[in-house]
Amino acid sequence: MSDNVAPTNRPRVLSGMRPTGKLHLGNYMGALANWVNLQDAYECYFFIADYHALTTDYADPSRIKLNTIDVALDWLAAGLDPQRSTIFIQSHVPQHAELHLLFSMITPLGWLERVPTYKEQQENLSSKDLTTYGFLGYPLLQSADILLYQPQYVPVGQDQVAHVELTREVARRFNSLYKSTVFPEPEVLLTPSPKLTGTDGRKMSKSYGNTIGLTESPKAVEAKVLSMSTNGQRAIQSDPGNPDLCPVADLHKAFSLPVIAVEWLSNCRAARSTCSECRRAAATSVQQHITPFFERRQQYEADIPGVWDMLREQSRKAEARAEQTMLEARKVLDLSRILTAEEARTFQARMAVQQVAAKGYDFASSTSLWQLGAFLTEAAVRKAWQQLIPADIALSEPTTAGFSPERVYEEPLILPAKKKRVFATAAAESEDSAEWRFSIPTKSYDVWVLLCGSDNGNWLNDFIVPPKYFVESFAKAKKATKTGPVPVAVHEQSGEFTLTVGDAAPVDITTLLSNYTPLK
Ligand code: TRP
Repeated sequence: MSDNVAPTNRPRVLSGMRPTGKLHLGNYMGALANWVNLQDAYECYFFIADYHALTTDYADPSRIKLNTIDVALDWLAAGLDPQRSTIFIQSHVPQHAELHLLFSMITPLGWLERVPTYKEQQENLSSKDLTTYGFLGYPLLQSADILLYQPQYVPVGQDQVAHVELTREVARRFNSLYKSTVFPEPEVLLTPSPKLTGTDGRKMSKSYGNTIGLTESPKAVEAKVLSMSTNGQRAIQSDPGNPDLCPVADLHKAFSLPVIAVEWLSNCRAARSTCSECRRAAATSVQQHITPFFERRQQYEADIPGVWDMLREQSRKAEARAEQTMLEARKVLDLSRILTAEEARTFQARMAVQQVAAKGYDFASSTSLWQLGAFLTEAAVRKAWQQLIPADIALSEPTTAGFSPERVYEEPLILPAKKKRVFATAAAESEDSAEWRFSIPTKSYDVWVLLCGSDNGNWLNDFIVPPKYFVESFAKAKKATKTGPVPVAVHEQSGEFTLTVGDAAPVDITTLLSNYTPLK
């Protein structure tokens, strides 16, 4: 991804809606109105959850794309602004599917079976077969939607709280399993949603056919409000009514200026006005609020390909942000797409060891580590080196401060016939002199393997040192150091090599260089 994702220091929010087609006033009040208001104070991501539509509508997906466009048009009409928010389509950012899959690995079935909407929806939508894997995973896909953007807040209605709670649990489990902090736990930003009743007095819902559309024409809005139920109250208009029970009163509360709303509600209680007067006033308030939406929608409708291009462009922006998160998540799960030099070396070392094992390499009868290297086909020296010094042991420069323990590698290499204990260790040449410094633990070994390398790793001298060269001096040095490892050094001067153990005098080991003969 080359796109730059401009970082902002505003807190991030993310929310989504399924592509159910045109929105109604209930959808608007329940979510969208709030989202529009968040745009200045937050870094906003809003998306259309078309994958989620498939969890229930998989048998007939034919309306998903057009419904997606319909929702997008209503969002734009109501004031979601692509200049300020990222407005995108879920399936255009395949990272949603990828993260869902990864989460599916770590999420216990019970967590999903216990989400309250699971059984509920299965019963409500009994005409569809929802005994599917995808439907069970609905809230986990939602968790992926959310966590992919690492948001602080998720602005949703009460009905989504359980899903955000699951999201927090998934984040926690991921972080604790992999000892990571990839997924901060997001919080619900509860949309304060005033109750909105449908035109017939039941909950406003598409399936009841009692909705008022968010971008319906002013005329259609007027007609619907004027014929709206007032819940059978005030059959005689001189009777007082109770606005708490009246759908028209809900409209006033949601759309009239507060002073005006208060006036109509008290008029109702005191029977000072008729229901039809009250409806007319409510119709005007609703119209004032949403006529601009209707008009803006007309403009967007005139260029559907333009709107689609905008959504694709915005989805690319979302993808760039999502990919940032996936880089972290993949790395934690060892799925990173970058092969580090370190990994390549580790793998080579593993192969070298396997090859050596396959050839039945006999350490004790080899003449030198160079020969061991020659066994292998390429990079002979390096592999020989790695056979004893795995790649995860850093071969550091000798330091004047002392003998750094990470240069030491101890392996209970068992010599075939004699079961000798071998201690192998390596050092790079010090910068200013032909000297290699080692430190050897105060244990007893039958043989030392001292590997003296160049600091660029291009060559390697080995000394396989039998006990007679060090038993005495090592015992002395052990006493002197008590606990610590014993400093040992190899020096070279015009082709002659000496070994110094602790404070003892140097002994000549030139004959041991690459000239190993089996231990007796
Ligand atoms: N489940 C949400 C609804 O039915 C839609 C949704 C999907 C969502 N993914 C989301 C909402 C992520 C918020 C965040 O309305």
